[in-house]
Amino acid sequence: MEQSQLVNLVEQMTLEEKIGQLTQITGDFYSDKAEERTGPMSQLGLNDDQIMNVGTVLGVVGASECKRIQKNYMEHNRLHIPTLFMGDVIHGYETIFPIPLGLASSWDTEAFRRMAEVSAEEASVSGLSVVFSPMVDLVRDPRWGRVMESTGEDPYLNGRLASAMVKGYQGEPGDLSTQFNKVAACVKHFAAYGAATGGRDYNTVDMSEQRLRDVYLRGYEAAIEAGARLVMTSFNSIGGVPATGNLHLMQDILRSEFGFDGVLISDFGAVKELIAHGVAEDETQAADLSIHAGVDIEMMTLCYMHTLVGLISSGTVSESIVDESVLRILELKNELGLFEHPFRGADEDREKTVVFSAEHREIARRTAAESIVMLRNDDSLLPLDAERSIAVLGPGAQSPDVLGAWSWRGRTDAAVTLLQGLQELAADGEDEGRRPSVVTTQERCDYFVPTKSVVSESIELAKQSDVVVLALGELSTMSGEASSRSNIRLPKGQVELFEAIHEVNPHIVVVLFNGRPLDLHDIDGAEAILEAWYPGTEGGAAIADVLFGAVNPSAKITMSFPESVGQIPIYYDEDNTGRPYEVAPNEKYVSKYLDVSNYAAFPFGFGLSFSHFTYDSLVSSSNSFSATEPVTVSVNVTNDSNVDGTEIVQLYIRDLVGEVVRPVKQLKGFKRVALAAGESRRIEFSLTEEDVRYVHLDCTMRSDPGDFLVSVGGNSRDLLDPLHLHLD
Ligand code: IFM
Repeated sequence: MEQSQLVNLVEQMTLEEKIGQLTQITGDFYSDKAEERTGPMSQLGLNDDQIMNVGTVLGVVGASECKRIQKNYMEHNRLHIPTLFMGDVIHGYETIFPIPLGLASSWDTEAFRRMAEVSAEEASVSGLSVVFSPMVDLVRDPRWGRVMESTGEDPYLNGRLASAMVKGYQGEPGDLSTQFNKVAACVKHFAAYGAATGGRDYNTVDMSEQRLRDVYLRGYEAAIEAGARLVMTSFNSIGGVPATGNLHLMQDILRSEFGFDGVLISDFGAVKELIAHGVAEDETQAADLSIHAGVDIEMMTLCYMHTLVGLISSGTVSESIVDESVLRILELKNELGLFEHPFRGADEDREKTVVFSAEHREIARRTAAESIVMLRNDDSLLPLDAERSIAVLGPGAQSPDVLGAWSWRGRTDAAVTLLQGLQELAADGEDEGRRPSVVTTQERCDYFVPTKSVVSESIELAKQSDVVVLALGELSTMSGEASSRSNIRLPKGQVELFEAIHEVNPHIVVVLFNGRPLDLHDIDGAEAILEAWYPGTEGGAAIADVLFGAVNPSAKITMSFPESVGQIPIYYDEDNTGRPYEVAPNEKYVSKYLDVSNYAAFPFGFGLSFSHFTYDSLVSSSNSFSATEPVTVSVNVTNDSNVDGTEIVQLYIRDLVGEVVRPVKQLKGFKRVALAAGESRRIEFSLTEEDVRYVHLDCTMRSDPGDFLVSVGGNSRDLLDPLHLHLD
């Protein structure tokens, strides 16, 4: 449709029809079974005419169901405007990939793009045209349950990964109109949802505008620059104003400064929650605040429907604001090709072959293996020797709970457990004599209170085996939305199980399934630790690949693992203080704790490999750089082991003097480098003036001429002695 036709369409719409477009409801409202429209749905009090004017639908999938709803909807909608199906596809549709925090550990932008492409293919053939992803909320507090959905604590890395995801979902500019295996991306949750006070979900966010822009907004900005067509508001208040009614955030920053011209949708119920926040007296005021802030679509409450007509007739809201929002929504539908192809990608036949295909599962398996972080490997216990006998124990051993939160369509019934992964490998081993012998308990082990019989059987099996693979962690319901924890240690029952086994067999590989960085001091005695996160559909197979060395681990964590919860928030790019601990560690009056170290147990960027990498000869092409002349920084990286491997080489800077206190380290570049055993390679990074810009007090983004330290290494803590470079 031409733009003029869209404008014309808006002109033909009644006010009620326009307001319908600004509302989103769940798919249940379109059920052909009247009895399903009960409970909270009947409480919303929508009649059939209103339902057929509502512009978008949340959470309904399946090609035939989407087509049925669309057909019926368009027949009943006076102007035959198609509806638009949206849903939460976060780390896969039916083929589930590792949770984003796990996938981020791969530092692999290509893997993110592939994950988004596979998700888009499966989602679109099943009827969806918009996915509520990427989630780019920067987070520095592992107590927050939604850390599992984020890509971690670093603004630069988050931005790179967000941009890759948007490109994977949407393809190239223009693809959405013609390539129906692509979907529009909705970046969320604008803004700073991950900075909830105390890590408690939905809690208040308060920070300086400088920090907000310099650190927290970078990921959203990157996703918008990459072309994300929608943005979702966050639940939190920020600086005292809930995001969904926050004029400054949405209009000044999002629309004017970031130039976002797509659709802004509220989070579920967030418009009406302005009343609970205490900034709106009633639905009328909630609608007034949100529509003026620029929220185009109200998700699952009806403040707009109930009050906008009155607000317009009283002159409080101009109808032109509503028209602009309606036009943006119609433009999105048009861009997706829905006017000409209302069913878009939905296709029952292709759905059967595309969704959960062997090809997609294979990609998920490779991606999962790339996301598993080896946190410890004393005495090279890993990779396991196939001739050894292995007891696979603990709550995660036989559990299909490997998908993680936000895997709505994921199939737990078809997920590969750790035990299955190991058993498959045992059965597949080419040389019978070298197949591992794998045993486990009769009964599944509980996550909180392992029964006495499981504990005693585990001890017996541990005694009889060469190595114990002990799968510990969290149930997937312990992270995700509304799943914050104040205690991030392993459940007590698991620690007791670990200790009992350790007494009889110290050769323990702990495999962790969890959605957040944990305090792991209770399992200090483990010889090896593999952080598997929630690895997704093919999780067990991917872990088996790493345990037996078919895949050499290369992943590195993107959130610091604290020594204890008391250190939180702990993150590598902290600001310097006037009394830095490192300068005078023995002084009393320096910034430190008395009872715990200042350092993370495992720092940002850390992860081990079966290979061993060394770094030397850090040099730069010049001692200075400028706005017109970047500098090249290069380093020699050697794989001085006899195993081929991949190293994630990281470049950090420090701006020594700025108008605003600068972080002690900042990631500014990284490369995944595959090095054969014994191979050395020079790795180059280009550092530009743009790379060292930051947000100043006047909110402008610029650099400060002066001195910088620049270093390279394999994690944020172990870096080579820095180069001193000058920005002219
Ligand atoms: O997309 C989600 C959001 O992240 C949390 N609230 C519900 C939305 C829609 O399901």
